[in-house]
Amino acid sequence: MGIGRTVLWTAAGLVLVGAAGFAWLAYQPEIGPIARPAPASFDKAMIERGRVLANYGDCTACHTQPNGKPFAGNLPLKTPFGTIYTTNLTPDPETGIGTWSKEAFRRAMKDGIDRKGRHLYPAFPYDNFTKVKDADIDAIYAYLMAAVEPVRETTRGNDFSFPFNIRATLAGWNLLFLDKTPFKPDPSKDAEWNEGAYLVEGLGHCSACHSPRNMMGARTTPAYGGGSAEGWYAPPLNKDNLSQQPWTKTELVTYLMDGWHPKHGMAAGPMTPVVDALHKQNEIDVFAIAAYAGTLRAGEKALDGDAVRTAALKREWGHPEAPPVPNEFAAGAKVFEARCAQCHRDKGATVPLALQSSIHAPVSDSVMQVIMHGISPPTGALGRSMPAFGPQMSEAERGALVQFLRARFSTQPAWKK
Ligand code: HEC
Ligand code: HEC
Ligand code: HEC
Repeated sequence: MGIGRTVLWTAAGLVLVGAAGFAWLAYQPEIGPIARPAPASFDKAMIERGRVLANYGDCTACHTQPNGKPFAGNLPLKTPFGTIYTTNLTPDPETGIGTWSKEAFRRAMKDGIDRKGRHLYPAFPYDNFTKVKDADIDAIYAYLMAAVEPVRETTRGNDFSFPFNIRATLAGWNLLFLDKTPFKPDPSKDAEWNEGAYLVEGLGHCSACHSPRNMMGARTTPAYGGGSAEGWYAPPLNKDNLSQQPWTKTELVTYLMDGWHPKHGMAAGPMTPVVDALHKQNEIDVFAIAAYAGTLRAGEKALDGDAVRTAALKREWGHPEAPPVPNEFAAGAKVFEARCAQCHRDKGATVPLALQSSIHAPVSDSVMQVIMHGISPPTGALGRSMPAFGPQMSEAERGALVQFLRARFSTQPAWKK
């Protein structure tokens, strides 16, 4: 039994002991069902505001299956504990939230407890949504109840194994990790920054992916120090960020709304739905997000963007001054030349690989995902797609390729095989 497993089981044991101790705390009453409120009973402006806010929370991205009915749920999410399926958020009274009162909905969003009193798993980012103002939660409620088509679809739950399948253990989790302090504006900062902080920390749940998590799946420090999402590495947004080019606020807005910037590359993988949601939003709000997100980087090391870019261009495949490939990486270089160089080359249309954060990450996860599944670009960058190479390459070829990419385009140590 490896040390990792021992620690995991010790942690699991602790959770069980905790669960017994907190049995009293785990109990949450049911909030009685109501008849589905008539859509006309909600204020039109409130519904519209709810639509915008739901978009900031990426509710559709998680609560809709590919090609499925909007908000009907059952999108599988992979977690370290197993697969969990999202719930049906349509106002269907049997299988959705049609019988939920405003109070029941608020409790789910802020405390992670469903209408019947059962604890919800933090794969649902209620630990971020708890920062959202009641008035905003009520607007989302109005939108879901009044403007979303009811769909009958029973939620599949999760396939977590013991003891993670016991929802009551989450009472302990909440006690340890759920910070319910309401969002407080910082009076030393301007209104834009505070609006951005509210959106990023609350509905935008940026830290859900960009912060590291502990063994129990709770966000931990350093905040925004890099995390993982659906098999991808979500790079740090704090002073340890991997960016190879300095960001201006406008560049950040472009990246966040369109998902691509000539200096910074692509928002691929789980960042794509985030960008697709922001693409539809008001630019003023996204500037606010960028204002706050930019200050997360405070204390970063100074970067000579032009010098780094010049060096990156010289490392591109086929550049006359490009360094020769050492023998140990020859196999990977061969794969690169055959499969990748048509796009990733000197004077090509792509961002130099040496400027892409994923190449400099501590783990090869995102690079491997990109090779396996390619890139389906966000709405704002259509046309910049990359084909999936997963099925066409052997594991050995992929391994050699990834080691070559790291050696050629990054100065960081080799990735663990
Ligand atoms: C990262 C993915 C993700 C995002 C984003 C997300 N949810 Fe969820 N949500 C989940 C998962 C997973 C569950 C199921 C949790 C469980 O089964 O314990 C869930 C459950 C819920 C529930 C409980 C419903 C029930 O029937 O028990 C509500 C309410 C909810 N989400 C509302 C929202 C709203 C509103 C938004 C947008 C502001 C949102 N969610 C965004 C993943 C997500
Ligand atoms: C569902 C997970 C997820 C959420 C939520 C999320 N991100 Fe990301 N983000 C990622 C991943 C994964 C990447 C890496 C994309 C790639 O490799 O192309 C990324 C990349 C980025 C980058 C580029 C960083 C770099 O070094 O190139 C920025 C900036 C960013 N995200 C900001 C945000 C902000 C701001 C929010 C909240 C509004 C947010 N992200 C929400 C997963 C997420
Ligand atoms: C048809 C053109 C094309 C081919 C072939 C191609 N790519 Fe890409 N690749 C792109 C585009 C477009 C992007 C998006 C970013 C950009 O514009 O530079 C990208 C981005 C990437 C990224 C950055 C991903 C991120 O984290 O956002 C990596 C790494 C990458 N490619 C590796 C490869 C490798 C390895 C191969 C060969 C197996 C390959 N590419 C083949 C077009 C291509």
